[in-house]
Amino acid sequence: MRHAFPECRFFAPFASHLTRASVSTPSTPAIAILGTGSNAPARVLTNDELSRRVDTSDEWIFTRTGIRERRIADAGDSVASLATAAARFALADAGLEPSDIDLLIVATCTPDLPMPSTACLVQTALGMRERAACLDLNAACTGFVYALDHAWALLSTGRYRHALVIGAEKISSLVDWSDRTTCVLFGDGAGAVVLGPARAASPARILDAQLGAIPGTADLLGVPGGGSSPATSDARRHIAMRGKEVFKFAVRGMEEVTRDLLARNGLSGADVALVVPHQANLRIIHALAQYLELPYERILVNVDRYGNTSAASIPLALDEARRSGRLKSGDLVLFVAFGAGLTYGGALVRW
Ligand code: COA
Repeated sequence: MRHAFPECRFFAPFASHLTRASVSTPSTPAIAILGTGSNAPARVLTNDELSRRVDTSDEWIFTRTGIRERRIADAGDSVASLATAAARFALADAGLEPSDIDLLIVATCTPDLPMPSTACLVQTALGMRERAACLDLNAACTGFVYALDHAWALLSTGRYRHALVIGAEKISSLVDWSDRTTCVLFGDGAGAVVLGPARAASPARILDAQLGAIPGTADLLGVPGGGSSPATSDARRHIAMRGKEVFKFAVRGMEEVTRDLLARNGLSGADVALVVPHQANLRIIHALAQYLELPYERILVNVDRYGNTSAASIPLALDEARRSGRLKSGDLVLFVAFGAGLTYGGALVRW
């Protein structure tokens, strides 16, 4: 496998990991996205408002990130409440009832509680049945792609029929609002999809997915407090990031996983009708578009209005794409994400 950046010492282990992971293409029964939904808090926090709190400006934030504003949850909102609302929209879109769901995965790194899982809270709020597996999954900003792949795998066994996969975050709870290097980047929200056996009328079939995590990169992005390790302290329960290094990994990582997924499915960038990337930074998204040699119109962007909503970003953007008519039957759609871990992942869906 050709390594695009052999001189990058951060990237070498990542490239070898992808090489090992891509030896075969899974063969599965047809599992499809049957419905989508999303929910963003009403409260809008603009760059101008932030610039009155910390030493920053709309010009700096927009030029560096493409973000103009983000949504911030009310004190009364929880990840479970954001997720439940998104799930209701997705279920209605799929024409299913909560009782039809037998697998619920909530991808989040901001769960309401250490335990029980947010998924169990959502199960109760939705009125789902008891015979349903309910779990949270934490792969940070890659969480939705991770959860999608896991749900796809479990449904493919035939032991589960319908899955609800939600990405939901109240990331504002982990932001140090006096740290201008991170507080300008993030926002809250939730997005959901319902998965199940493909329907003839709306196939949206999952074709392939690939996940990974890069050893030795945990200190580049994370929350170094609030955990059970003796090394953590509640005083450091805020997002800490080495932005430039994360940026490099994000660009290279999204490119590598995309190249790998397309190649093993006999596809090229030109076959992709719409990329729904993790919405972290417009410059990262543009670098991916250039790599795929795709016009920007084929890349879904809403980071300007939501900022980085972590695990919620792809399902939020996907729901926007659906509702604005940007997805046509037969379109090849690529999800691709990168996040703390550092984790990465991509998935291909034939709409
Ligand atoms: N407003 C104004 N100035 C700011 C600022 C802000 N909000 N944040 C940082 N700066 C300053 C820095 O202090 C630095 O000043 P100095 O040169 O006097 O030291 C200068 O701007 C440049 O900072 P730098 O960190 O080098 O900027 P950058 O071009 O790397 O952009 C990020 C910073 C965070 C936008 C960029 O690194 C990035 O997007 N990284 C990826 C982050 C990400 O996506 N994380 C989530 C992954 S899921």
